[in-house]
Amino acid sequence: ASGTHVPAVVVGSGYGASVAALRLGQAGVRTLVLEMGQRWDTPGPDGKVFCGMLNPDHRSMWFKDRTEAPVNGILFLDLANRPIRRHAGALDRVNFPGMGVYVGRGVGGGSLVNGGMAVTPDRDYFTRQFPTVDAAEMYDRFFPLATKMLRVNHIPGHYFEASDYYRFARLSRTAAARAGFDTAFVPNVYSFDYMAREERGEVPKSALGTEVIYGNNHGKFTLDQGYLAEAERTGNVTIAPLHQVTRITREGAGYALAVREITPDGEVVAEKHVTCDRLFLGAGSLGTTELLLRARDTGDLPDLPAELGEGWGPNGNVMVARNNHLLEPTGSRQSAIPTLAITDPSREVFAEVAPVPAGIETYVSLYLAITRNEERGRFTYDPATDRAVLQWGGARAGITAASGTFDRINDANGTVYRYDVFGGGKAFADDFCYHPLGGAVLGRATDDHGRVKGYRGLYVTDGALVPGSLGVNPFVTITALAERNLATILHEGR
Ligand code: FDA
Repeated sequence: ASGTHVPAVVVGSGYGASVAALRLGQAGVRTLVLEMGQRWDTPGPDGKVFCGMLNPDHRSMWFKDRTEAPVNGILFLDLANRPIRRHAGALDRVNFPGMGVYVGRGVGGGSLVNGGMAVTPDRDYFTRQFPTVDAAEMYDRFFPLATKMLRVNHIPGHYFEASDYYRFARLSRTAAARAGFDTAFVPNVYSFDYMAREERGEVPKSALGTEVIYGNNHGKFTLDQGYLAEAERTGNVTIAPLHQVTRITREGAGYALAVREITPDGEVVAEKHVTCDRLFLGAGSLGTTELLLRARDTGDLPDLPAELGEGWGPNGNVMVARNNHLLEPTGSRQSAIPTLAITDPSREVFAEVAPVPAGIETYVSLYLAITRNEERGRFTYDPATDRAVLQWGGARAGITAASGTFDRINDANGTVYRYDVFGGGKAFADDFCYHPLGGAVLGRATDDHGRVKGYRGLYVTDGALVPGSLGVNPFVTITALAERNLATILHEGR
């Protein structure tokens, strides 16, 4: 691809990028997708594409010497983390002071490693976060479109009630009910039909075989099977994996990209120069923000807006763990796919019941609480390291809200928090997140459709557009928003 010119380049291949690739391809625009991670389609010597969570190997994480799984030391045992060979693995954890951000790496971005929870946000809150977006159009047209394209499905009630693998979730429902809280089922892109067949022993186990954060070998409908496969079928879209964009400059009326191609073991194969007329940034909240800040602050694109890097948030992510009574085991078999959330509207807490798929009884109930706090961080460009650095002050308000909910659950059940789960002897973990959002916020760093201010033909199409908080898991919103923005961009031809 060195010295090539293409009409459109898409950087990254997560949700926003995949929507851009498909809609550009369908509009007849020749498009090159540059993705720094691998194409996950070739089985290793064990016959599997991805490695499992309990026996991680070099495929698990992006160039690390040791895995960095979030829940490490249950019972103070180092259950999950171990040394690995440095390799272009599927899950990355990018560490900033006080905040570790998990992201997917590969063709399909976060869809490869996420929990598949596919939630449409509450309309009032969406409107508060996106005051300039036509909510009626989103809820009538683009959320349903995203939900259909991503193949969102719902767990059948009879399966949830009967399966051994959801005992942990039913137990948390009982504990929540004793405290007066309701629960809600959470839709997913993991096929519950496949899961039922796993349980019957008819097909290889994936969710029921503790696979999720390092990739699911079966069952989950990821972007490489959906949007991206469809994009390639248009004949206009080419995907280049193991291609990392390092720099964006102006060339003629378009853009030039410095691109580094690596092997899966990290050796540099080539440094390439690619030019395009239109550039769509879908490298995720961290990736897109870093590319733009670097371009602005090194003088490559000096007129980029001052608002870049602002409005970052972890979607109010707070993890918490409780200890159950000996007579109320959670079950040693747990599906890796969460399906239930505890709702506390008065504190604006949406707490998903997460599995602890350790393969042994731990008596731990684990939750990912999504809180609606308004605390925001910001990225700045550090010339010494050539990286974007996050300034983040912590999620005090998120912890206050989540502890309100879970103190009440503990009081009603006579239970206590677990302090051995996250390290550092804490009950609540606000120092890592799965839902990085913001950095190039819609209507601030860009116009109301993701067109970057000051530069024609430059677009942001991913989670960087979302102003830090959604109240629910973000990928349905990122997808729907990208669909909406691309529809206008292609219609108006700019
Ligand atoms: P996304 O992060 O998906 O994709 C960006 C892509 O760009 C990556 O593939 C990256 O490698 C690539 N890239 C970055 N920089 C680049 C560069 N310079 N050059 C080339 N390529 C570059 N959400 C949800 O709704 N439900 C859920 O259940 C979960 N669960 C969950 C679990 C875990 C473990 C994680 C890590 C995340 C989740 N999420 C989630 C979050 C969800 O996956 C996330 O919000 C979306 O993937 C974000 O989509 P984007 O389009 O913003 O980028």
